[in-house]
Amino acid sequence: MNIIITGGCGFVGSSLCLFLKQNLKNSKILSIDNLSKNYSKFNQKILKKHNIKNKKINLGKFNSLKHVNFKADIIIDCSAEPAVEISKKKIVNVIESNFISTLNILEKNKKDGSKLIFISSSRVYPINNSYKKFQDYKKKKIIPTFTEQDNLKGAKTIYGFTKSASEELIKEYSYSEKIKYIINRCGIISGPGQYGKVEQGLISLWMWRHINNINITYNGYGGKGLQVRDVLFINDFCELIIIQIKNFTKYENNLFCVGGGQKNLINLKNLTKICQKISKNKLKVRKNPKTSIYDVPYYVTSLKKIKKFSNWKPKIYLNEGLKDIYKWMILNKPKINKFF
Ligand SMILES: NC(=O)c1ccc[n+]([C@@H]2O[C@H](COP(=O)([O-])OP(=O)(O)OC[C@H]3O[C@@H](n4cnc5c(N)ncnc54)[C@H](O)[C@@H]3O)[C@@H](O)[C@H]2O)c1
Repeated sequence: MNIIITGGCGFVGSSLCLFLKQNLKNSKILSIDNLSKNYSKFNQKILKKHNIKNKKINLGKFNSLKHVNFKADIIIDCSAEPAVEISKKKIVNVIESNFISTLNILEKNKKDGSKLIFISSSRVYPINNSYKKFQDYKKKKIIPTFTEQDNLKGAKTIYGFTKSASEELIKEYSYSEKIKYIINRCGIISGPGQYGKVEQGLISLWMWRHINNINITYNGYGGKGLQVRDVLFINDFCELIIIQIKNFTKYENNLFCVGGGQKNLINLKNLTKICQKISKNKLKVRKNPKTSIYDVPYYVTSLKKIKKFSNWKPKIYLNEGLKDIYKWMILNKPKINKFF
């Protein structure tokens, strides 16, 4: 099976390249990535060691895949600028990298007769809905989740808009060009290999700062660290993708909410506690009460639909997942220092 992984030198894409290479025998994988992150070249070298080639292409340019001769059976789209705050500052770049790229990929699907797995984002939901669910969570002592049926109307950030627009474009191409797709709408994904920044990759950033004694700040919502997310660890995500590749027809032309779910829910304060316990280091916490208009206080994934389709469920819980990140960081500290 020939597989193209776009964004193959990013966190999710490189993990997937290596996982599929190891677990899908007879697969031939090509990564396509413009190496825009400071860690992309490092990941490219790791892929090379495993005989996975990366083609440096800017997917945001019209027709950028026209001359790629590698005929794929399936394309897994993991390329994007994933940081919401960057999408506020670099609107055109983000629309190119996150939306025009989807158009180019769909054209390649059409040319090759290939299938598509698209990694979408929980940020397609309107910001207001997160506030409403957060109120219910605090007042009613329930754990509201976001489902495939939830309303998408309302401001959602430019990043969220590009993901939502890409989802719609994929459905259009599926209707008119018969392209078969699976959309996984993901919440936070984390794990070893993630070089977290303030704007993206909070879980790994938190652990890195604990290991290296760098101050942390609770940003927004009064600076109390009470905002909530669920976390999916990368190995569980890769296992789901393999299941979907092997049983594509069962999942095809469907959208799934994918995340850590209610069992992997955590707020920032408790994340600090776990990081403290694992790293045996207590940091000074700064408080910045001001909330960005692009931030959301709450997101937890409904796993009902994906569980109905499969036996898959997240197996790695928070303590174990954070210990894995800790071990990877300690083992590779000098090599990865410059990427945080
Ligand atoms: N990590 C998460 O928590 C998370 C959550 C939900 C969805 N996602 C989605 O998963 C995918 C991967 O995210 P990630 O965390 O690995 O991010 P990442 O930034 O580590 O990886 C993205 C990769 O895409 C490449 N890229 C960006 N623009 C490109 C362009 N124009 N042409 C070619 N390559 C380009 C980058 O160089 C990078 O290597 C993204 O689509 C993201 O929106 C991630």
